Amino acid sequence: MGQTKIELAGVPETLLWNLYQRATEARRGDRVLDDPWAVELVDRIDYPFAEKFGSGSLGQWQALRASRFDLEVRRFLADIPGGTVVALGEGLETQFFRVDDGRVRWLTVELPETVAVRDRLLPPDPPRRRTLACSVLDESWMHAVEPGPVLISAQGLLMYLQPTEVHRLLAACAERFPGATVVLDGVPRWFSDRTLAGTMRTAEGYVTPPMPWALDRAERAWLAALPAVASVTELVPPRGRGIVYGGAFPVLNRIPAVRRLGVTGLPILRVRFADRP
Ligand SMILES: C[S@@+](CC[C@H](N)C(=O)[O-])C[C@H]1O[C@@H](n2cnc3c(N)ncnc32)[C@H](O)[C@@H]1O
Repeated sequence: MGQTKIELAGVPETLLWNLYQRATEARRGDRVLDDPWAVELVDRIDYPFAEKFGSGSLGQWQALRASRFDLEVRRFLADIPGGTVVALGEGLETQFFRVDDGRVRWLTVELPETVAVRDRLLPPDPPRRRTLACSVLDESWMHAVEPGPVLISAQGLLMYLQPTEVHRLLAACAERFPGATVVLDGVPRWFSDRTLAGTMRTAEGYVTPPMPWALDRAERAWLAALPAVASVTELVPPRGRGIVYGGAFPVLNRIPAVRRLGVTGLPILRVRFADRP
């Protein structure tokens, strides 16, 4: 089969970095994440991955981040078979194929240009899976969520939004989905600042787009103080391979101040909304 040429720019292009890192890790015999779909997609996409992103040296880092999201989804589905997962800004994340238990109902909410790429590369949605081509900031997606228990994931998304947009989105989710869980990640302030300055780049010269929203102390406090939020829990990536990911990082991640620096893995939060009285 020939390759599919992908021309994405700006924020949507970042999905290719994530995909490439996961695929690079998944090609290893001693991988920490099984992800045959990521490998297949990278093989089928005509895009200068190595020229832009290098050798994929952050493969394990990215795969452990994805594993943590997988764990949350699997736990949710073990508790609530047939529950709904809403994947905001899903990109070419192949999590559905990793966690599908044959019962999950899945809703993808993505920008139209990214959905067009997904349509060219992924199999058509089965009946349990739906895709909405709209911004997560267009709250009409919320009406498409079927009644019942919901887990909303926002992996690698919120950092690209403005702080006011993140606030509006999370507050609207809390209002609309009482009892739901959101799993999200963010970048620390220093990381956001570097992207805003245009100095976050790969050795090959690919410049990361601006990430205006940082998950810092003030944002954690804002979230925890929302009346509709019942709990906010900090999550860490699972133990990985080798002295860094298997030894040093899990130890360092036990220290909140170090964990929040975002070097040992991006901060990940599980937010539970209160049930409606
Ligand atoms: C870094 S990629 C992350 C993709 C995927 N979640 C992952 O972890 O591999 C950022 C994704 O957010 C999507 N995105 C950015 N702004 C969005 C918005 N306003 N609404 C929906 N999706 C958005 C982009 O299209 C892109 O797929």
